[in-house]
Amino acid sequence: SFVIVSDPDIAKHILRDNSKAYSKGILAEILEFVMGTGLIPADGEVWRVRRRAIVPSLHQKFVTEMIGLFGKASGRLCEKLDKAAAEGEAVEMESLFSRLTLDVIGKAVFNYDFDSLSYDNGMVEAVYVTLREAEMRSTAPIPTWKIPIWKDVSPRQRKVNEALVLINNILDELISTCKRMVDEEDLQFHEEYMNEEDPSILRFLLASGEDVSSKQLRDDLMTMLIAGHETSAAVLTWTFYLLSKYPRVMSKLQAEVDDVLGDGLPTIEDVKKLKYTTRVINESLRLYPQPPVLIRRSLEDDMLGEYPIGRGEDIFISIWNLHRCPKHWDNADVFNPERWTLDGPNPNETNQKFSYLPFGGGPRKCVGDMFATFENVVATAMLVKRFDFQMAPGAPPVEMTTGATIHTTKGLNMIVSRRTNPPVIPISR
Ligand code: HEM
Repeated sequence: SFVIVSDPDIAKHILRDNSKAYSKGILAEILEFVMGTGLIPADGEVWRVRRRAIVPSLHQKFVTEMIGLFGKASGRLCEKLDKAAAEGEAVEMESLFSRLTLDVIGKAVFNYDFDSLSYDNGMVEAVYVTLREAEMRSTAPIPTWKIPIWKDVSPRQRKVNEALVLINNILDELISTCKRMVDEEDLQFHEEYMNEEDPSILRFLLASGEDVSSKQLRDDLMTMLIAGHETSAAVLTWTFYLLSKYPRVMSKLQAEVDDVLGDGLPTIEDVKKLKYTTRVINESLRLYPQPPVLIRRSLEDDMLGEYPIGRGEDIFISIWNLHRCPKHWDNADVFNPERWTLDGPNPNETNQKFSYLPFGGGPRKCVGDMFATFENVVATAMLVKRFDFQMAPGAPPVEMTTGATIHTTKGLNMIVSRRTNPPVIPISR
């Protein structure tokens, strides 16, 4: 049995006011094979120590530096789309967004170039095998992977194990190379430490000199890789789906982007001026929250509003329900970025009284919210500046399949056309 929460006050109670009385429960059990005791599944003391170590690594200077990385990766996607536009072929955007965000997060978290937009290598395949397995385990009715003999003989499980060995070996190698670089460097560690050649989160964590095992570090890197990859890919997928359905919003978005962006890569000043683009992302996250549910388990008896619950209750906080509830939102199912003023604060869980939780809330709120928002704003702005996007004629209807994030069931097939001929593609390398 489990309880579904769709009430903002109760969500606030669980996530913020009484957060100590809840653990990640079933989520930690499912993700253990890939994230170990990384920050998302971790609870208790491990979580407290790792959260304190990781949050400072995403400091303002780092996030600002990342805007260049977002621009370069989006530039590579523009090159790819330009070819498709020239040939008039339909493109499956969801898989391209997945590659874009994989390239971004690999570089940002551990300075690894997946370059998955250019070609497939073993590591790219290994990441996808692992992600698909995590998704399967979160929705499978019977946990076959726990059956002792099955897990050794099943070809699927063997493939998953091989993928994990490959990823772990590469992560171990990156950690030891990075350790050597840190030992050789003169730069003193300070609050906004950042090595210009390797601004990654891994570099920060190692330079901070904290006493952490390689296994824990690997778990944290793997957690951030997954947390920052699928989520942003899903946000971009649903944003472009919504834009194709709401041409009025697309025109207004393109007008802002044409006004703000030049031909080069966006800067932090540009991103700050892209206010409507930011609202488009905020609103896309309202209609398609990634993940659509937050998972908790009660560690003691508690009251959820007027309802008593016992210890060990599994709880799903439905962000989907909260974000589409007509009690809290006018025309709840309509994509309307104008519901928030351009000059007002960015909507978040606090100013929307827990009716809006795109990045969760309370002590376990997402550590990558700023990073992810800028990434999505830069990618969206650069793409719509150069191309128009329409659903491909004859493409299957876009339906949802939900795992950790909301996917399309059969892809997002679009026709991409150049807005200027030829479009200006920023230098990407
Ligand atoms: C946690 C959403 C991008 C790292 C969360 C949570 C949400 C979320 C809703 C709360 C989970 C819970 O309470 O159970 C998103 C969305 C993203 C995004 C929508 C992109 C649009 C990122 C990125 C990173 C990241 C880019 C890393 C650089 C994490 C981590 C946690 C987390 C480590 C766990 C924090 C903790 O438990 O202390 N994210 N995230 N996320 N996110 Fe994100």
